[in-house]
Amino acid sequence: MKEAFRRIYGGHPEGVWAAPGRVNLIGEHTDYNDGFALPIAIPQHTLVAARRRRDGRLRLHSAQGGGPVIDLHVAQLTPGAVTTWAAYPAGVVWALREAGHRLGGADLHIDSTVPAGAGLSSSAALECAVAFAYNDLYELNLSAPALALICQRAENGFAGVPCGAMDQLASACCTAGAALHLDLRAGAHEQVPFAPEAQGMSLLVVDTRVKHDLGDGAYAALRTGCERVARLLGLEALRDLAPEDLSRAGKALPAHLLPLVRHVVRENARVTDAVSQLRAGRPAALGPILTDGHASLRDDFRISCAESDLVVDTALAHGALGARMTGGGFGGSVIVLAEEGRAEGISAAVTTAFRAAGYQVPHVFPITPAAGARRIA
Ligand code: GLA
Repeated sequence: MKEAFRRIYGGHPEGVWAAPGRVNLIGEHTDYNDGFALPIAIPQHTLVAARRRRDGRLRLHSAQGGGPVIDLHVAQLTPGAVTTWAAYPAGVVWALREAGHRLGGADLHIDSTVPAGAGLSSSAALECAVAFAYNDLYELNLSAPALALICQRAENGFAGVPCGAMDQLASACCTAGAALHLDLRAGAHEQVPFAPEAQGMSLLVVDTRVKHDLGDGAYAALRTGCERVARLLGLEALRDLAPEDLSRAGKALPAHLLPLVRHVVRENARVTDAVSQLRAGRPAALGPILTDGHASLRDDFRISCAESDLVVDTALAHGALGARMTGGGFGGSVIVLAEEGRAEGISAAVTTAFRAAGYQVPHVFPITPAAGARRIA
């Protein structure tokens, strides 16, 4: 990173920061409903080599973005003005300034191993790496959760994606060997030990290669739908409904809205259940919880796709403990939990099934719960 920085900008960076992508074990589309989620950070991460500038310019270069250095000015950052990948780093600087922090410019060189469009939160990794770099360079002394919320503000207010806070909190606050139990209403999080490989299990990611895009309107429609139903039920958020209240809620709602509510309410309960199982030392018990979560996203929330369903069905048919699509939906990645000895067979079977169906060959790789954002040099 230092060598690339020198080639692009001349001179040396003041430091290098890293922030990971994430997969969510369970708790999907619950974050913007004030609910619970249980993500882990993945080993794939985004790196930022950075150096302050005194003239207020913000220069951005990305190994993945190709193209020339993008030259902006921190005082002129306004939502909508930047529309490429650069909206994420520029948005972080904008959001920090909006929050009242006095900042100057910087030269940033960015490189990443988080695949883009795979539902693994490459944008949150990019935002968090930049936020952590700025936090150190300009001595802002913000906590990891506070930086995560700045990143969410960047994504909502600058990049125009109405996401919740799960991805940014995962990238900022996860620790190696643990899942992050998030309570989005309380703004609280706790680390729950989870080391599948130490217990004879593998956690696989299957990138279906179906590109998902949160900016295309479907995600926003789901979020608005959930918020509207909460209002119809007289609730602050769908978090306020318990599973045993569902049948009463069903009577108060038009029939087509009940599945939406059912997913969110039961999904919150699945997070609580998953955390109890992990705390009790029963990680294999996550399997059926993951699979139930997938069925709920497929049948009630209706955001799966044929490719993700094929991964789940094939993995289960070849002995997986559980499997589900992860992230926002409409493609992206599936996670599979399996006994270690079965992982290879599952991976081969999924690839064969994709070939037979005429789909693009999926990208299958094992992951372990990794560390959150930090300075590495
Ligand atoms: C995307 C969003 C998150 C969350 C998930 C669904 O990843 O960025 O805020 O809503 O979808 O759980």
